[in-house]
Amino acid sequence: MENIDITTNINGIQLSSCIMNASGAICRTDIELSNLLNSSSGAIVTKSCTKHPRKGNSYPRYFEWNIGSINSMGLPNYGIDFYLDFLERKKITKPVLISIAGRSIDEISFIIQKSNFCSKISALEINLSCPNLIENKNQGIVGYDFCVVSHFLEKIFRFHEKPIGLKLPPYFRDIHIENMSLILNKFPISFITCINSIPNGIFIDVNKESTVIRPNKGFGGIGGSIIKPFALANVFKFYSFLRKEISIIGCGGIQSGKDMFEYILCGASAVQIGTQLIKEGISVFDRLNQEFSSLLRKKKYSSIDDFKGKLQNIL
Ligand code: SIN
Repeated sequence: MENIDITTNINGIQLSSCIMNASGAICRTDIELSNLLNSSSGAIVTKSCTKHPRKGNSYPRYFEWNIGSINSMGLPNYGIDFYLDFLERKKITKPVLISIAGRSIDEISFIIQKSNFCSKISALEINLSCPNLIENKNQGIVGYDFCVVSHFLEKIFRFHEKPIGLKLPPYFRDIHIENMSLILNKFPISFITCINSIPNGIFIDVNKESTVIRPNKGFGGIGGSIIKPFALANVFKFYSFLRKEISIIGCGGIQSGKDMFEYILCGASAVQIGTQLIKEGISVFDRLNQEFSSLLRKKKYSSIDDFKGKLQNIL
């Protein structure tokens, strides 16, 4: 039987499989990260970390139903020093992406500078799209403020040493993706990850006549299969506007090998899995790697380069 190659390359970073966890999905504690290291994912991504540890928002702050999830976690994490210490202690056998968040450009810059010293980090994924920072309400989601993004990139590319990627929020108009691409194309960005959860959703428990999560009056970021069409559209549009050197990691609603295929057809070089990883646990990577390989075999493709970015418009 012909060998199917599901390896990929994110702007020079080589992955044994094109699937990894999404930041936030069971990647916060020592045990969770160790399990990811031992899994068949192609890379691992940490929970978005801040300068100091954060408890996050009040409970209940996560809920899932058959086709989606809602969260308002509020960036619970143990702080950058914990994640750097974890990496120093562990034998690292696959690329590690440190996800970085913060309440200000200065906080994020501080964490980037600290991460520069850790040889076990392959790249930084800077989270410009967290929808749940209640204390940042007036500032909103950074990725929606194009001037701030531009100013931020000017600043961090003065001192960065590691490859840098950005986790972006979903955009709903072409002009926004085009304008964001014009900004990103000016900087030596390695990759973008799109999309983060869709902000400002609400899910209702009819029996209790209440929201299902508590923080922020029940509003939160929506993930899971319900958001896949929007995420695919963002990947496809960014693929057409970005310089080809900038890789795209697709994220949003992946449940099967077929979903992975769709993302790569839209131009993604790799994919991340969030809600389904939380639902199914770490074995999801084995299943998805298998389903994806079988689909490629059936379609007579031998690697992702055979179909990446080749989505056709129906005639
Ligand atoms: C959170 O911790 O609130 C979620 C992080 C994110 O969506 O970026």
